[in-house]
Amino acid sequence: MVGLIQKLFMDMVWSIGGDEAVNKIKQAANLPLDHTYQICDVYPDDEWQRVLAAGLELLNITPEQADEVYADYFLNDAIKRFPTWFAMAKTSYDFLVIQPTIHNCFATSVIEQKDRNAINDKFVVDKFPETPNKLVTHYRSQNHHCGLYKSLAKCVLKHYKDEAHIEEKQCLKLGGTECEIHIQWSKLGESSYATEK
Ligand code: HEM
Repeated sequence: MVGLIQKLFMDMVWSIGGDEAVNKIKQAANLPLDHTYQICDVYPDDEWQRVLAAGLELLNITPEQADEVYADYFLNDAIKRFPTWFAMAKTSYDFLVIQPTIHNCFATSVIEQKDRNAINDKFVVDKFPETPNKLVTHYRSQNHHCGLYKSLAKCVLKHYKDEAHIEEKQCLKLGGTECEIHIQWSKLGESSYATEK
């Protein structure tokens, strides 16, 4: 996975427990203490799983709590680090429509074709021009971060002051062929993309 996720996770851990906490996670995940993450480099998924598991244990939180805490940290950072994406999207709907594009932009910086494809293939968003307050996201990844997707989507809604019901109709972890996440808005500002075919 591209290092932005791991870097911000370690930054969050540092903000809570400083160098000591970061070093404990590196040790538990079998990483050298001088290991760092670059936001555009690719790191093995199994390394991320070890770092995340060590982080959950150290912070004494469940995966669901981690999704919420990390989503909040990640989005606040992303708003400052990548303001143009947020300026381009007038509403939470617009932002979630371009979310796969944002991810695919990172794929272009990755040299190996197979790593590029892995990033590009993770998210597909369906729009419904006849129902302009609904999106369906199809997510497929061995990282199983549908919980993180839903938590991040909630943070995006909060940022744009919109309201929506989010429901995962099928989940890879529960035997589905993918994670299928339905988002139905009950309060939405004026979107640029909602009625676009
Ligand atoms: C400016 C905002 C954002 C940026 C720059 C960004 C960037 C990234 C990057 C670089 C990755 C690693 C990609 C990979 O290696 O496959 C990632 C992973 C992920 N992002 Fe985002 N993201 C943003 C917003 C969002 C939002 C709003 C959502 C959900 C609504 C989201 C959901 C996810 C999920 C679920 C993953 C884990 C993918 C996996 O299974 O490996 N992201 N993001």
